[in-house]
Amino acid sequence: MNQHKQYYHQRAKEYEKVYQKPERQFDLQGMQIFLQEEAKGANVLEIACGTGYWTETLSKVCKSVHACDYNESVLAIAKEKKYGPASVTFEQVDLWKLQKPVKPYDIVIGGFIWSHILVEKLPVFINLLRQQI
Ligand SMILES: C[S@@+](CC[C@H](N)C(=O)[O-])C[C@H]1O[C@@H](n2cnc3c(N)ncnc32)[C@H](O)[C@@H]1O
Repeated sequence: MNQHKQYYHQRAKEYEKVYQKPERQFDLQGMQIFLQEEAKGANVLEIACGTGYWTETLSKVCKSVHACDYNESVLAIAKEKKYGPASVTFEQVDLWKLQKPVKPYDIVIGGFIWSHILVEKLPVFINLLRQQI
């Protein structure tokens, strides 16, 4: 397991504490409203879904959410949550190995993954996401 993957594996159970900080509630609410307006009725691919915090938000308004992460431990937490009314599926996959989907998604979303992409890899990353829609 690489260092980065190990980090999220170890933090899986405490990860969502970042979303409980009082000073973040205003911004988080704004982000939830924005996301729900953008993704309403859409078939969404969510990359790096982590423990499913944004999956939950999305599932309230989307048609479907396919949520992916390469970390089994965060996915285990995500899978225990209740979602809907959207249909929600999970997949353990490294985002760099995503295949072109049979049916393109309407939207690709990835919460807090941008800062993990090396600047020199951004063009490849963007191309990879473009192949999904
Ligand atoms: C900062 S957390 C964000 C989790 C979630 N999107 C959120 O906003 O709460 C980053 C997540 O990206 C996942 N991740 C990092 N690199 C990845 C990769 N190459 N493929 C798939 N998932 C990855 C980690 O396992 C971790 O769950």
